[in-house]
Amino acid sequence: MAGEPNAAGGEPLIALRGVSRHYEIGGGTVKALDQVDLEVRPGEFVVILGASGSGKTTLLNVIGALDLPTAGTIRIGGRDVTGATRRELFALRRHEIGFIFQSFNLFPGLTALENVEFGADVAGRADARDAAGEVLAQVGLGERGDHFPHELSGGEQQRVAIARALAAGNPIVLADEPTGELDFETGVQILELLHGVTHTSGTAVLVVTHNREIARVADRVVELSSGTVVSDRANEPAALADLRW
Ligand SMILES: Nc1ncnc2c1ncn2[C@@H]1O[C@H](COP(=O)(O)OP(=O)(O)O)[C@@H](O)[C@H]1O
Ligand SMILES: [Mg+2]
Repeated sequence: MAGEPNAAGGEPLIALRGVSRHYEIGGGTVKALDQVDLEVRPGEFVVILGASGSGKTTLLNVIGALDLPTAGTIRIGGRDVTGATRRELFALRRHEIGFIFQSFNLFPGLTALENVEFGADVAGRADARDAAGEVLAQVGLGERGDHFPHELSGGEQQRVAIARALAAGNPIVLADEPTGELDFETGVQILELLHGVTHTSGTAVLVVTHNREIARVADRVVELSSGTVVSDRANEPAALADLRW
């Protein structure tokens, strides 16, 4: 990040060049990621598809500055993050990224509204409470703000988690198997919501899944196998009603 200007016009929001994440274990090397090139632009809805162990979570973690690659460069918003200090990485996570997890990871002692407000607050938004109310309404839970997570269904909890990520107002949302714990119909609604976000706010959304059926809703599918990108193609999104898993 060191003193570089902010995103120049036309530059991708996310740019990975030759990114590897190797682990040295017991005399051998595990190549969780190996020589990955990837560019993502604002407003893209990208599904990262791959079997268990193919490197999906590792990829999201290095994009989200939760982990650093062992080789290659990563630029987020035009800034090189691979040489950044821990402090700079912290700022990057606050201001560029929103995270959504398979198991929701809501704060159990906070209401839905407070969970979302937390997301806005961490990103430094002065209007955190108002922003939280707006985003919660946007995900269809405007009336449930005073409910605690345990009073909500799985699908509703994931909506709150999405609202918490969106309330930060950050340009990138990273979702690791966000429908993994949801039934089919609820999963479809969650994907619909995430897809809509890219159109309404220009946010880039990256959804990781092992589920080929989920990949059919994407504008673009990046397939991972053994830590490498084996295909990267545009996709005509399937009607959500046509999906089955
Ligand atoms: N901390 C670690 N130490 C050693 N190997 C790891 C570590 N984290 C992940 N791996 C290995 O890297 C590969 C990719 O893991 P991961 O990114 O979690 O895959 P996925 O999310 O696609 O299931 C797997 O072989 C996994 O065992
Ligand atoms: Mg994973």
